[in-house]
Amino acid sequence: MGELENRRDRLFNRMKDNSVALIYAGKEKIVSADELYPFEVNRNFFYLTNIQQDNSILMLVKGLGVKKTYLFIDEYDEKKEKWTGKRLTSDEANLLSKINNVLYTSAFENMLSLALSKDDNQYGQIDTLYLDLTPELKIKDDFYTKDLKEFINNEYPHIEVSDVFPILRDLRMIKSPFEIEEMVEAINLTNSGIAQLIYNLKAGTYEFNLADEFEFYGRSHGRHKLAFSTIIASGKNATCLHYPSQNDFIHENDMVLFDLGFKHNGYCADISRTYPVSGVFEGKQKEIYEAVLACNKYIIDYVRSGMTLIDLQEKAKEFLKEECVKRGLMKEDEDIVKYYYHNVSHHLGIDTHDISDRNKPLENGNVITVEPGLYFAEYGIGVRIEDDVLIKDGAGYCLSSGIAKEIKDIERMMRTRKA
Ligand code: GLY
Ligand code: MN
Ligand code: MN
Repeated sequence: MGELENRRDRLFNRMKDNSVALIYAGKEKIVSADELYPFEVNRNFFYLTNIQQDNSILMLVKGLGVKKTYLFIDEYDEKKEKWTGKRLTSDEANLLSKINNVLYTSAFENMLSLALSKDDNQYGQIDTLYLDLTPELKIKDDFYTKDLKEFINNEYPHIEVSDVFPILRDLRMIKSPFEIEEMVEAINLTNSGIAQLIYNLKAGTYEFNLADEFEFYGRSHGRHKLAFSTIIASGKNATCLHYPSQNDFIHENDMVLFDLGFKHNGYCADISRTYPVSGVFEGKQKEIYEAVLACNKYIIDYVRSGMTLIDLQEKAKEFLKEECVKRGLMKEDEDIVKYYYHNVSHHLGIDTHDISDRNKPLENGNVITVEPGLYFAEYGIGVRIEDDVLIKDGAGYCLSSGIAKEIKDIERMMRTRKA
């Protein structure tokens, strides 16, 4: 069984007998007048179909001993294609999704009412409908999944509507070897983009110059998209975790924190590094950096299947607290909340903050970030060191170990920068 068939099969196995699951790709949203936001497909739909075209629908039917999979896509529309470009043909959709039953969306409502009708039909008597109840998912003009739920409740009172989210969350938390390979590709690309950024890192440039270098690398090496908006934060700006602007001038004595990543075929990398602009770690820069690096390495080494992300956070906080007191960076244990104010890990996948249950014990196939940080506004220094870690054979396996984080490696790399 192929990758996509396997994903759908895992969903089928979790669905009740006599049920239908509907997963929508979503519809484009309007910015203003006739301007649209760039379309971002519902990631659950993408996970199950490998298709990114708006207005498509996946329908899984688990009835009377049968499992049927249907994909609905828009019919060829000459006018639309003349304005906004080519859309998928049925054959192309079949090739991408490995779904044999590709139908047009014009046939969807009929198919659904047939499947849900109280009368016996080819599927037997369906009594559960799984919907991806992501509240903001638009499926038609002025019609969202919550409206669909209401419609089903009114039109088909014998059908119980159930949220498919917890099932898809559980499935997506465990990455297949195929998905891990995609993430490794994304991390390797990100590593190369970082090397390009470092080559150009010097006092007198702006934060946006570095972001441009990174992003241009992705565009010019396969038009790779960003996993999220690039964060380039120099000096005190790095104490804002998701510093949104990139407008500041970079100074010789600054450290620069970058938190960035590319996607590869939809899978994200999420990497943070913090380097001194001068090329050498000095004084407080070195103290703070060493504390964060020690914590990053400790947690990667410490993580085991069976632990939760909450366990890792507690351990990271404890570790950073001790490091800061030991190094004279703070006096009281309680002060740690002033200098470390985020979580150490999240799951990573098709979403940067991948859907997950933070209380669920980790298991093989999970990919998480390990990203401790310390943020001292009084010194104008924020340091975060973020790696992407696979849980494998019950322990942590760092997928991003090729991206320099040891002081000696960074200082060596910085010596080869553009003059
Ligand atoms: N890049 C966002 C994060 O690290 O969580
Ligand atoms: Mn992260
Ligand atoms: Mn990050």
